[in-house]
Amino acid sequence: MYRELYEKAKEAYVNAYAPYSKLHVGAAILCGDGTVFTGVNVENASYGAGICAERSAAVTAVTHGHRDFRVIAICSDAGEAWPCGICRQFLYEFAPDMKVVTGSDAEHLEILGLAELLPKGWTL
Ligand code: THU
Repeated sequence: MYRELYEKAKEAYVNAYAPYSKLHVGAAILCGDGTVFTGVNVENASYGAGICAERSAAVTAVTHGHRDFRVIAICSDAGEAWPCGICRQFLYEFAPDMKVVTGSDAEHLEILGLAELLPKGWTL
């Protein structure tokens, strides 16, 4: 299951828009009902306006009425890609118990809980 999700993230990253960093990242989120949403990083000439693949996938899922995130897999053309701090907090809002999967390839995946990656995440 983790491998399949990672492969979906890998398929997605070809559509990343990363003319500035040249780092192409894809993410795939598995939801509780089995639905998968993908996202890519989308950069901008105003650098701060860019969005990471993880938040891109999460926004797409929420847009379609899915917030029950169980697993996110992330893949880049440089191999493994752990989510940045903003993405950790963004995902924590919806699913602090979700798993995060990445690796250099589908045969070498590492899996950690989001709460391990973001201890004492912020909530209101
Ligand atoms: N990026 C992601 O999309 N996800 C990550 O996990 C790490 C970083 C993007 C943001 C930016 O477009 C590029 O990678 C370089 O930081």
